[in-house]
Amino acid sequence: MSAVLTRLSIKPLHPLFVAEITGIDLTMPVAREDFRAIWDAFNEYQILVFRDQPFDDESQIAFSRNFGALETMEAHPGNHFKPSHIAVMTNLDAQGNLLPLDHPSMIHRLRNEAWHTDSSFKPVAALCSLLSGRVVPPAGGNTEFASGRAAYAAFPEARKAALEGLTVVHRVAEPSNVNDPAYNEEQKQRLTVTHPLIRANPVNQRKNLYVGSHAQEIVGMPREEGKALLDELTAFCTQPQFVYNHPWRQHDLVIWDNRCALHRATTFDKTKYRRKMHRTTVAGMVPESAFASMPQAGAA
Ligand code: OGA
Ligand code: MN
Repeated sequence: MSAVLTRLSIKPLHPLFVAEITGIDLTMPVAREDFRAIWDAFNEYQILVFRDQPFDDESQIAFSRNFGALETMEAHPGNHFKPSHIAVMTNLDAQGNLLPLDHPSMIHRLRNEAWHTDSSFKPVAALCSLLSGRVVPPAGGNTEFASGRAAYAAFPEARKAALEGLTVVHRVAEPSNVNDPAYNEEQKQRLTVTHPLIRANPVNQRKNLYVGSHAQEIVGMPREEGKALLDELTAFCTQPQFVYNHPWRQHDLVIWDNRCALHRATTFDKTKYRRKMHRTTVAGMVPESAFASMPQAGAA
């Protein structure tokens, strides 16, 4: 890989995707050739793991901007309806006390335990998310990742051909839960979008299934039939051979490619342990071919 040109070292953590990168402090400004190596590894491995990166919000935002413009989160109970560039995934209140399990933000965060890709319900879906482990529980609370690219590659050619050209409706909220207080009507409407079922990485052209919990219907198919197909495809992608399970250490940074990988939170004893993760999310671009070259640093 081109990474040999820099002092970075790249070690695969799974037979099909995921690499750990060492030899760089991301909390300091990153040289352009080092970011080039990270960008190439990101397109190749889909998930990147960095250890010992003691970010604060400012340095996390600064590093994240190398990938492009940051998303501002939607207002929802998990951010107390105060969106910013940092999404806090936690079971703590602002004073650091454990939140009760029936608190609205705890109920909202349970959605993260379903396989999903971030912001697939936005018209321009996210490029990547960067999650920084600030407070990590001593047991549980791992994050799992599944490769929609490895899963797609495992399909026979006839199945790939049958899926090509299908379009999927993604929604921020479950239609079954009409009284869901997490999002207002304006958000539910604006955050119902369509994306192709099969996407391709614009740098290496490798294709993937783009599914997960927000994917709810297939355009032109009866609702139930589309849902059943999407459930089957998500189950296919998340078989053990396509999954990497990340046990967190404090100060880990994990970056995932939302265009082609799924992820989910796993549970832990939320009545006993504390967990606080800070996420930045980099917006995608239209058209996707804009990513054929490396993003410009320092975008909004
Ligand atoms: C996220 C997410 C999983 C976790 O930050 O988007 O889904 O394990 N997090 O906290
Ligand atoms: Mn997520």
